[in-house]
Amino acid sequence: MNGQPGRLDRVCVRVPATAANLGPGFDSLGLALGLFNTVEVVGLTPSPSPSGRGELGHEVEGESADVLPRDEQNLVRRAMAAVAERAGVRLPPVDVRQVNAIPLARGLGSSSAAIVGGCVAANELLGRPLSQDDLLAVAVAIEGHPDNVAPALLGGLTVCYAAGEGTGCLRLDPVDPPRTVVAIPDYEVETEQARRALPASVPRLDAVLNVGHAGAVVAAFATGRYDALRAAMEDRLHQPYRAHLVPGMDEAIRAALEAGALGACLSGSGPTIIAFAHEREEAIAEAMVRALANVGVKAETKTLDVCLKGASVTRALS
Ligand code: HSE
Repeated sequence: MNGQPGRLDRVCVRVPATAANLGPGFDSLGLALGLFNTVEVVGLTPSPSPSGRGELGHEVEGESADVLPRDEQNLVRRAMAAVAERAGVRLPPVDVRQVNAIPLARGLGSSSAAIVGGCVAANELLGRPLSQDDLLAVAVAIEGHPDNVAPALLGGLTVCYAAGEGTGCLRLDPVDPPRTVVAIPDYEVETEQARRALPASVPRLDAVLNVGHAGAVVAAFATGRYDALRAAMEDRLHQPYRAHLVPGMDEAIRAALEAGALGACLSGSGPTIIAFAHEREEAIAEAMVRALANVGVKAETKTLDVCLKGASVTRALS
């Protein structure tokens, strides 16, 4: 901010939406989608008598602007503080502006977008003290599971795995990526509630099925053999246990497949249903909306490209 005394730097970060799990890859697989939240942060020189962050500016526009906190509880601010702490430095007071296109609590990674946006913005503001791996670790610690924050940070398809005490992550650019059709119901499902619905253990045969299916989903995206998705997106670790929270889930998945989708599943912990296609996107969208309407659920659809780029700084330090 040249010429404006008191202002240090401005950073603007664009973060993609994400679909986690991809059917069988519970808490492991994730995909970045072409729908974006923007986090803009302006670092301020500390005033002579700073009266605390709560009085600094925090604007939210777009999705869920009416409900998101503007204080230290805000995920962007929590993530920024966590990056500074991990780097062992002090964060200057900041003004924050969030412009949100990702709907809240629908299984499209809105909280991860806020966390990753805050992490990347703080790291940029502080002169990049943390590596991508460090940023991922900070983001995972806040979110509690890695499969949304990883593709939000890195783009493409990400595979996260337990690596000792930490989280390992590999990313790949899908070959000839299909488009995605998302059907977003008009109600929210909190991830915490959806996680409480899961059993502590599952039958071995279900676990074995999921191992093969998760491997096949990754191989499909890595090779372009998307014909495998139809069978491989079947999941037995989380979707069946969440069906009661997402009325019409099975019907919408079936309708998408019947309309020509390559595969379909719950996006994250729902309630969004995501289908994959190289053609017939409109018919797939209509079929999903109809199936949900049949059980009394209103939904809007979007056709989104897979996003190969993760969180990106769109306006760097001046
Ligand atoms: N893997 C997480 C879950 C994703 O299914 O609970 C939440 O979006």
